[in-house]
Amino acid sequence: MGTSRLAGFYHLTIEERLARAAAAANLTPEELSAWTNGGISPEAADHMIENVIGLHTLPLGLGLNFQINGRDVLIPMVIEEPSVVAGASFMAKLARAGGGFQTSSTSPLMIGQMQVINVINLHEAKFKIYENKAKLLAAADEIDPVLKKFGGGARDIEVRIIDESPIGAFLVIHLIYDVRDAMGANAVNTACERLAPQVEAITGGKVHLRILSNLADQRLSRARCTIPVKELAFDNFSGETVRDGIIAAYAFAAADPYRAATHNKGIMNGVDAVVLASGNDWRAIEAGAHAYAARSGKYTSLSTWGQDADGNLVGTLEMPMAVGIIGGATKVHPAARTAIKLMGIQTASELAEIIMAVGLAQNMAALRALATEGIQRGHMTLHAHQVAIAAGASGDMIEKVAAQMVAEKTVRIDRAEQILKERNP
Ligand code: MEV
Repeated sequence: MGTSRLAGFYHLTIEERLARAAAAANLTPEELSAWTNGGISPEAADHMIENVIGLHTLPLGLGLNFQINGRDVLIPMVIEEPSVVAGASFMAKLARAGGGFQTSSTSPLMIGQMQVINVINLHEAKFKIYENKAKLLAAADEIDPVLKKFGGGARDIEVRIIDESPIGAFLVIHLIYDVRDAMGANAVNTACERLAPQVEAITGGKVHLRILSNLADQRLSRARCTIPVKELAFDNFSGETVRDGIIAAYAFAAADPYRAATHNKGIMNGVDAVVLASGNDWRAIEAGAHAYAARSGKYTSLSTWGQDADGNLVGTLEMPMAVGIIGGATKVHPAARTAIKLMGIQTASELAEIIMAVGLAQNMAALRALATEGIQRGHMTLHAHQVAIAAGASGDMIEKVAAQMVAEKTVRIDRAEQILKERNP
């Protein structure tokens, strides 16, 4: 993969853009066709879910300018919202001037939960589980020979007593499982189901639920970037003004759950777009993100923004990132396979870290706009295109009607219809 700085990409035709992407990652015509035809047929979809009656497609755009741990990456993003791909790409360009994104991850450890009810003495049962930990781990380790072959398997057991609940106290056992390059839900759920009889024999209780936790707080990924303060200057805004504005915007999210929800939504605009493009389970990622944001008992920002000793802007993002590159839609959806190939990914952690970089870039794009000119100007241009199309414009007329509405600062369907009538009497 060469540079991710594809100057003028926006102005190319869709075919030309595809050709640039193909050249960057040696994509075959068959791999590319997964993107031009949406990837799956209704027949393939019929094997994925129930009661299939068709397909529903979304736009796929390329995030540009990303440099992650010194490597250039072109990033496929699936999203229906205007400004997200452009915003992330622009911020990646600014971050590049400060060395791009630095990322890291924990081991891919998922948590499987077993809820044990009807236990006579919770403390005794807890200790007995710990006394039998080696035996339980050895049994859990045998359950998925494929994962084991690739270096994964059962790693630890933790026991918690839930003192208060609507049904009173009960025991919760966490099975910590290294799932390597899988998302891990199947492996962990299977392991919990298989261990349940042994857990019942040890505790004398009944294992009720056996399911993974989406609060994957032992499978975290992180991204960090430094933006040279001078890169932040634009129009009449100095770099220092933009930096301080972004930091003050972050302070709002750090302190107030109402703002934190929207701030984190901006992060998820970037995160989900890549999660979707790679065929991963975005509901799992959303659930993990927001539970992690509330881990202290107060919902807060997933990212931080501050400055370094030289006055440059520094951003960090850390969150659970349970994504896989083997199994599920990542393997069966041809468009997801092409996405993985384009990003040159070898491990699930690499994908997780790319996703973190995009989330952080997208967060910065939103904060920069909010802290300066406001969010609407950037949103309006593409929104105006959609309004023009909804009013009946086609071909060249879409751009003309949209441009006139933006210039007039009136982006509404009735105005679009009027402009169309004036131009096509
Ligand atoms: C809109 O999709 C996302 C933003 O609301 C995020 C934010 O407010 O930080 C712009």
